Amino acid sequence: MKNERLNEIVKLCGKVNRVADIGCDHGKVLGELHKNGASYLIASDISEPSVKKAEQLLNALNCKNYSIRVGDGFSTLTNADNLDLIIIAGMGGYEIVKIINNSKINLKKLILQPQNNVIMLRNFLIEHNFKIITDKVVEDKNKFYNILKVEKTNIKHHLTKREIEFGKTNLKKFNPSFIKMLEEENFKLANRIEKIKNNLLKKEFTNIIIKNNKEIERAKSRR
Ligand SMILES: C[S@@+](CC[C@H](N)C(=O)[O-])C[C@H]1O[C@@H](n2cnc3c(N)ncnc32)[C@H](O)[C@@H]1O
Repeated sequence: MKNERLNEIVKLCGKVNRVADIGCDHGKVLGELHKNGASYLIASDISEPSVKKAEQLLNALNCKNYSIRVGDGFSTLTNADNLDLIIIAGMGGYEIVKIINNSKINLKKLILQPQNNVIMLRNFLIEHNFKIITDKVVEDKNKFYNILKVEKTNIKHHLTKREIEFGKTNLKKFNPSFIKMLEEENFKLANRIEKIKNNLLKKEFTNIIIKNNKEIERAKSRR
């Protein structure tokens, strides 16, 4: 696929058998998972026209083992679906939290790609006994996305303040996209500092730039 965000989601899914994509829309991720040998796919979306797109794609790929569901979040799923993995991608962080919070099914592994509010999402996951397995930034068409692979457990998995703020995997492995994201954030903040008069805000932005610069240096040293 010519879409790094979706490619990375597929890569993080790994080898899966039974998988649901909540808010699947075009169904491209499921299409790739079918090609990778998944045995059962659920394409679910709150919008019927969206889910129809996924259905068309899966039919075009001659996929037989799929189910189309229309509804809000996990309400379309049951424990009998026996899913290894559920994907929620391309929604706001608060929407993702709402969907997980309203779950009536037992959760195992999830792939989450929030469009915003990733720090809030990480805090929520830790509070609710999820283990963050992978948490990395990916760049796609000059935009940066956080993609998390998490697993529901029975215990709390502590994260450091830095891990909550920047994402665990970004702090462990050399990731050029992470460096670029921080550099671009700093560039935007520096431009804003030049235009604003409020000294408190200027100080706040300057502190973020300093903190980001520290992470950029550390990240470069992991090369
Ligand atoms: C921006 S698209 C993302 C599509 C695809 N997951 C991706 O990452 O490219 C968001 C999709 O989520 C669906 N959606 C939004 N809120 C939802 C909810 N609460 N439950 C299920 N689907 C939802 C929308 O109808 C839309 O098709």
